[in-house]
Amino acid sequence: MTIPLRLGVNIDHVATIRNARGGRHPDPVRAARLAAAAGADGITAHLREDRRHISDGDIERLRGEIDLPLNLEMAATEEMLAIALRHRPHAACIVPEKRAELTTEGGLDVVAGQDHLKPFVVALGAAGIRVSLFVDPSPPQLEAACRLGAPVVELHTGAYCDAPSPSARNAELARLADAAVAAAALGLECHAGHGLSFETVGPVAAIPTVVELNIGHFLIGEAIFGGLDSAVKRMRSQMDLARAAAQGERCA
Ligand code: PXP
Repeated sequence: MTIPLRLGVNIDHVATIRNARGGRHPDPVRAARLAAAAGADGITAHLREDRRHISDGDIERLRGEIDLPLNLEMAATEEMLAIALRHRPHAACIVPEKRAELTTEGGLDVVAGQDHLKPFVVALGAAGIRVSLFVDPSPPQLEAACRLGAPVVELHTGAYCDAPSPSARNAELARLADAAVAAAALGLECHAGHGLSFETVGPVAAIPTVVELNIGHFLIGEAIFGGLDSAVKRMRSQMDLARAAAQGERCA
């Protein structure tokens, strides 16, 4: 049996375009509704400390108006914890956040930061929120996530997607595949995301123990050319085809 692979659509950059002019257009909640209709299994949104894209009001509306599970990406700060506990999303993915970065540049250092992270993992978990830690595909980080009691890790796929050559990309893919095996052996549910596109999604979707991909920037960019419905449907189909093909190869 193929282990199902969920698609979480990150709608942050709909809000980036909206915020370029202020006002309400384009509305990320409308994008979430369209993504749901096109086959997304969940909606992901990152409420950043500087509110550069998603706003507090967006989170409130996503919780109130969208039926799909909401995955709130958040830094480990008291402010974000209070917001998560108020809105109670289905899941919270703790990410590192630097004010000057263009996007989340790397995974959390769970090994060095475990004392800081522990109360966030405990408080979110106690509220019934499924906690994931966004980490680089590195065994010590997975082991630290396990020690903290986080049920889920999300593997940062940025180094794989941005690799400068095919051989470097293959090496990064092998790191992801090994990390996904290690995560499963530790009893961690394994997600992956960052920088994925039509070109890069297949090999990650084929990793059997990865159960969720979170994809944003590429889908919203692609939506400019062919619409969000078509972008999400094509991504969904490429994920499913890659998953089924890998399963077929393992069974052959
Ligand atoms: N997963 C996490 C934890 C992220 O921080 C991001 C970026 O917000 C993504 C997935 C999606 O990355 P992208 O927008 O590059 O698809």
